[in-house]
Amino acid sequence: MSPTTVSDRRTHDIACMPADGIGPEVISAGVEVLKAIASADGTFDLTFEDYDWSSETYKKTGKYIPDGGLERLKKHDAIFFGAVGAPDVPDHISLWGLRLAICQPFQQYANVRPTKILRGTQSPLRNARPGDLDWVVVRENSEGEYAGQGGRSHRGMPWEVSTEVSIFTRHAVERLIRFAFETAQSRPRKHLTVVTKSNAQRNGMVMWDEVAAEVAKDFSDVTVDKMLVDAMTCRMVLQPKSLDTIVATNLHADILSDLAAALAGSIGIAPTSNLDPTRQNPSMFEPIHGSAFDIAGKGVANPVGTFWTAAEMLRWLGEKNAADVLLECTEKVCESGTVTADLGGSAKTADVTRAVCEEIRKAYAVSTKSES
Ligand SMILES: NC(=O)c1ccc[n+]([C@@H]2O[C@H](COP(=O)([O-])OP(=O)(O)OC[C@H]3O[C@@H](n4cnc5c(N)ncnc54)[C@H](O)[C@@H]3O)[C@@H](O)[C@H]2O)c1
Repeated sequence: MSPTTVSDRRTHDIACMPADGIGPEVISAGVEVLKAIASADGTFDLTFEDYDWSSETYKKTGKYIPDGGLERLKKHDAIFFGAVGAPDVPDHISLWGLRLAICQPFQQYANVRPTKILRGTQSPLRNARPGDLDWVVVRENSEGEYAGQGGRSHRGMPWEVSTEVSIFTRHAVERLIRFAFETAQSRPRKHLTVVTKSNAQRNGMVMWDEVAAEVAKDFSDVTVDKMLVDAMTCRMVLQPKSLDTIVATNLHADILSDLAAALAGSIGIAPTSNLDPTRQNPSMFEPIHGSAFDIAGKGVANPVGTFWTAAEMLRWLGEKNAADVLLECTEKVCESGTVTADLGGSAKTADVTRAVCEEIRKAYAVSTKSES
């Protein structure tokens, strides 16, 4: 899974899994900009293999992932994922059948969700401007409330019982909190907010707080504060500038990161990386949004979240310069006003994609000119 070198160019092998709803629209746009950047950059190649695992496959075969599928998937350097979910398949079947069925066995335990107000876009917060909201939410991605523990007895009876048991292990909490501290340390402000609910949830959440306090001792250059998740929603809305890196459980950070994306302007702009920091398995990169079947097939899905996702994937693969250029070009296009309806514009997915590809070509033409 390390980049292979053909002559002096690096090659990264990507598994593409568009899945459902607007997934295929945004992933094909993402592949277009990735091809544009690899070709303009000229120092690396990307190869793509398509995986048609989706709710359609599930309806035909009874399985999202065919037998032996994960073994095949494991040979790639990264997975570029769209979204899973269809109106005629219960959401818990689709989520557990595909996305969680990849994240959990591949130990992609760190879910990383950066959010900022892109230039040219507007936050629904009256006074927030680009630079005022610049956060990274680090979400525990392997256990917690989504551990899959629990069950149902006496189905349909008035005395039916159902349990949804949250699992917090010291091992998983510590590795994730350590990852969050490292993330905070790599950012200019070096500030981490640890979010729990340790007043009401007095076991697992108290252990989170304790582990965070222990790990903090190894990061003396990172400032830390602690919030209860309910108060955190108010702080995100009322004092966005006071936050930088945020760490929370699987459920809490899932909710907070959607709020973060909406506060930055739209759920259509934010990326997600599901990382196996040990690099023993491929990591998976996806826009934060779902399959949005209300707009699927109309060509209006905002591809910006997928472009930012593609940039994060390049960064993980070691292509930092290309990642920076891709994000900057995407932001320039937003600034120029070529934005989809969710950001107040009238551009289609294809218009934004074309404009970003054009910006990429311009960016590299300028850098080649200044080198010669
Ligand atoms: N990671 C995933 O695969 C994932 C994540 C969230 C939801 N889902 C699934 O997606 C399906 C729909 O879920 P939902 O409606 O709660 O969330 P959603 O993110 O799909 O949509 C919420 C709203 O945001 C809009 N939206 C989302 N992405 C957009 C984009 N790129 N451009 C413009 N508008 C966009 C939608 O039109 C919708 O109005 C469900 O089946 C759910 O389980 C999957």
